[in-house]
Amino acid sequence: MGRIIAFANQKGGVGKTTSAVNIAASLGLLGKKTLLIDCDPQGNTTSSVGVSRKTAVTVYDLLIDRAKAEDAVITTEFKNLDLIPANSSLNGAEFELVDVEKRESRLKDALGQLKGKYDYLIIDCPPSLGVLTINTLVAADGIVIPMQCEFLSLEGLSQLVVTIRQVKQRWNPDLDITGILLTMYNGRLNLTMEVVEELKKYYANKLFKTPVARSVRLTEAPGWGKPIVYFDRWSKGAIAYVEIAKELVQRI
Ligand SMILES: Nc1ncnc2c1ncn2[C@@H]1O[C@H](COP(=O)(O)OP(=O)(O)OP(=O)(O)O)[C@@H](O)[C@H]1O
Ligand SMILES: [Mg+2]
Repeated sequence: MGRIIAFANQKGGVGKTTSAVNIAASLGLLGKKTLLIDCDPQGNTTSSVGVSRKTAVTVYDLLIDRAKAEDAVITTEFKNLDLIPANSSLNGAEFELVDVEKRESRLKDALGQLKGKYDYLIIDCPPSLGVLTINTLVAADGIVIPMQCEFLSLEGLSQLVVTIRQVKQRWNPDLDITGILLTMYNGRLNLTMEVVEELKKYYANKLFKTPVARSVRLTEAPGWGKPIVYFDRWSKGAIAYVEIAKELVQRI
């Protein structure tokens, strides 16, 4: 049975999409059959693997029960990597699901049919704790939290942990934090090291061993519609994400 992992953090621009895309592609390269699911109306994950956001069937159609999950799956040009795309139509979901019964488990129900076909199902979340992110947390076996080493990130992490606890209590008792991933990392900054020390006090066993350093190549790759392992295989970003994918496989 495939493992569903949500890449979540309600803070914007912390590296959720970059990490979800590049870890999913690295898992594929390591021989794991992987499905990447874009759950953000921005559709950044979709374009990052070279797929047009104008595709006919998206994750939105699954949430409102208009299509089956397998009809939304697109095969990418990358090894062992499929995609369920998203686009701005997903903005409607937040409102349209308000009155729907069991609205928090729509994604879980939709993905049920696909779980057996993949080793990993990697979900990219939007920067909010609304109904879309709740759907991903209800569906997930584990959560990866990408974060930057700043003090406000620690406050954001506390809020996210409260939400995770609530989802665990109400809907998904087995949900767990698979790992906390440090992104845009600069180990020479004092602030970075202070935040890392603080994180280690509470989450020592959750921190991924490899942080992702700041890298221009990682910002360039999405413009070419390619994950970093296909854009510049031996760049430091690619090497880091493959290491992190290996660690993820050991963890879940
Ligand atoms: N390691 C890195 N080095 C340099 N730039 C990075 C790195 N990781 C991500 N970025 C850049 O930072 C910006 C935000 O990253 P990304 O889109 O992955 O974050 P996000 O959390 O998905 O954002 P949002 O909350 O809007 O969905 C992007 O321009 C991305 O290219
Ligand atoms: Mg994103």
